[in-house]
Parts: sequence; structure tokens; C-alpha cells
Amino acid sequence: MSSTSATTPHFAFRDKRVVVTGAASGIGRRVAELLLEADAKVIALDRNAVDLPVNQFVRTNMADPASIEAAAKAIVGEIDVLLNIAGVPGTVEPETTMRVNVLGLRMLTELFVPRINRGGAITNVASIAGAQWQAHLDEVQRLLATPDYDTGVAWVRDHPMDGKRAYDFSKECVVVLTKQHGRFLREHGVRVNSVSPGPVHTPILKDFRASVGPILDLVTRETGRDATADDIARVLLFVSDPVLQWLNATDVQVDGGFMSGLVGGWVKLGS
Ligand SMILES: NC(=O)c1ccc[n+]([C@@H]2O[C@H](COP(=O)([O-])OP(=O)(O)OC[C@H]3O[C@@H](n4cnc5c(N)ncnc54)[C@H](O)[C@@H]3O)[C@@H](O)[C@H]2O)c1
Repeated sequence: MSSTSATTPHFAFRDKRVVVTGAASGIGRRVAELLLEADAKVIALDRNAVDLPVNQFVRTNMADPASIEAAAKAIVGEIDVLLNIAGVPGTVEPETTMRVNVLGLRMLTELFVPRINRGGAITNVASIAGAQWQAHLDEVQRLLATPDYDTGVAWVRDHPMDGKRAYDFSKECVVVLTKQHGRFLREHGVRVNSVSPGPVHTPILKDFRASVGPILDLVTRETGRDATADDIARVLLFVSDPVLQWLNATDVQVDGGFMSGLVGGWVKLGS
């Protein structure tokens, strides 16, 4: 992970107000750094302190709806872009995974919807772990049909999952929620997309290796390396750039081409 930019960003974010969750570490930190280089006004949300000169930092626990509500209130005025990056791996308690990765993301997004300027964007981080969303669409839609955070938690308690499945399911939910929000927000001139990385060299990669197992090594072997935070951050900013007005409600896989190996049959899971 580099701390300075190899390439000066050319993204159109000068003076744009951009909210970044998960800005304390990994992908979110790199996104915040690139945004500062692009002269954006960066509002950072995280449970941990952010060591960058952002315009506003709001300590937020995405597992706690009261904290999310307080964060949305602490950010005054309209925003242009919301980047939902904060997330936890399948090694944490499954309910926490669903709270942070799905229910918190959904709640924060819905609190900001009336305050996002036309031409703006919401970009979520999903994962290739969520690539099987079509196979589980009924279950995903049932969770997403819950009207709010607390009913979402009740649904999760009624549908126990192990840690790995909770992570995969959480990212399937992010892909589908992105499509739902993208559909409903397009008339407000706000685009919603997700980015699905393969393995990324950040502090939680070791947790993914513990919960996912040898398949992660297969991905790394097939693609030659893990992504850097910079690889993913640049795609997140590109997708959020106002110049891409016709990109909406879609998921962009950023995995060095690994998933294409599955489609072509060159890579077999379990090999
Ligand atoms: N690293 C990978 O291999 C990989 C692959 C696919 C997807 N992702 C996703 O990328 C996103 C960023 O992860 P990363 O790799 O940069 O990991 P990371 O651990 O470096 O960063 C995650 C950030 O989220 C914050 N966070 C976690 N729980 C929170 C909570 N309850 N409230 C507020 N903030 C919280 C952490 O403090 C941290 O700053 C996550 O959504 C993750 O699922 C990562």
C-alpha cells in the first residue's frame, strides 16, 4: 500500500463534498487520500480515528443505528458523493457482519438520499464473495424487504448463518441493494453502483484467509498477486466520477480477471 499517489488523480471532485465510510484503514483510507489530492471536501466516518487531514471526521459505529443517525446529523448540508466502504470480514460474529455490511450501509444511505445533489453518486463496496447473488435472490430480497434497521436485525436473528455465509450473504445483499437504490434514485439524478474486489492487501485480508480458506490462495495464484488498496480506490472514484452519467445500478468486479477464469472453465473451485 503506498501512502503517496503514483499518479496525480484527474477525477472531477474539486470542492465536491464526499462522505467516505471506513476511511481509517485500507481501501477507504486510500480513497480519502486520493480525494484530498483531488481537492475534494472529505467527510470521513469510521469507528477508528482517521490519520488524514480530512475536512470532518465523525466517529461512527455502523453496527449501532443510534450512532449512524447521530453521524448523519453531525454532517450539515448537502453532499455530492457517498462512498460506503466500511466493512467487517466473516471472522466476526455473523450478526455484526450483517449490521455493518448491510443494515448500517442501507440506513446511512437512506438518511443521505434527500441530501445528495443531482449528478451525484453513491458507490458501495461489495466483493466477489457476493457474486452468487442471483442464486440467493429470494433470500436477499426478503432481508431487503425489511423496512428498517431493527426489523432487519430481527430477520437476521430468525435466519442464523455461520460467519463465512454471513459475509457472502452480506455482499450479495450489497449488490442487490445497489440495484434497487440505483433504480429508485435515477429520477433524482443520483447514480448508485457497487464495486466488487477480489483479495486486497489490507489489514482484513488475514481474516478473509482464515474464514474463506484455500480459495483465496487460488485467486492470488491465478491473478499473480492480491490487489492493492490503490487498485480498488481508483475504480471506486472512477465509478463515482460525475462524468460517468450512464453507469447506474451495476456491479463492477475488480479482481484482476479471476472470475473470467471461472466462466471460461479454466479455473475450477476446489482446484
Ligand atoms: N481486503 C479484501 O480482500 C477485500 C475484498 C473484497 C471486499 N472488501 C471490502 O472492502 C471494504 C474495505 O475493507 P478493507 O479491505 O479496506 O479493510 P480494512 O479493515 O482495512 O478497512 C475496513 C474499515 O472499516 C471500518 N469499520 C469496520 N467496522 C466498522 C464499524 N462497525 N463502524 C465503522 N467503521 C467500521 C474499520 O475501522 C476500517 O477502517 C470492506 O467492505 C470489505 O468487506 C475487502
